[in-house]
Amino acid sequence: MSVQSPLDLFVHELGDIYDAEQRIAQMLPKLAQECEDSQVKAALEHHLQETKQQIQNLEECFGALGVPPGRQACTTIQGLKQEHDTFLQGETPSADLLQLFDLSGAAKTEAYEIVSYQGLIQQADALEQQTCVQLLQANLMQEQAMLARVQQLSHQFNQKSRAATDTGVTLPPDMQADRTADQAQPQV
Ligand SMILES: [Fe+2]
Repeated sequence: MSVQSPLDLFVHELGDIYDAEQRIAQMLPKLAQECEDSQVKAALEHHLQETKQQIQNLEECFGALGVPPGRQACTTIQGLKQEHDTFLQGETPSADLLQLFDLSGAAKTEAYEIVSYQGLIQQADALEQQTCVQLLQANLMQEQAMLARVQQLSHQFNQKSRAATDTGVTLPPDMQADRTADQAQPQV
């Protein structure tokens, strides 16, 4: 379909985030599996459920416009996945560092989604597609909450890494395992 009107452009952009959400829904279970901390796992698993709902919201949006849902390959999310895979294979990181890397990747993903939804809401509003505005706002609020959660977790684990480094001692592998077990405890 060629893009010839603001409505065409909106449908095109909707197809980008529709594709992005489906790629993210495939990645989240893998990330939850490779992160060891129970809070990180819970945040990623919770966001998987939200992402499934967001995909349905996007399908409703297409429905409100009277067009079938269509995907436009989102090369941004493809690229972030490729960065993840290259890092995992090429750098062989420790479990702690992989978790920090994954939290950073999750924050980048959320930032992309937030800006995408903000742009889509502007477009839908200009097109007077109020059903779409409401559906997209619901998705945006979840992405904003997820970004805040991911940044909070990142901060927490960066502080832990710094505390370990500040001792001036490189932890032997058995102590690193203990530290991982500590991190599995719920934090207040
Ligand atoms: Fe998200």
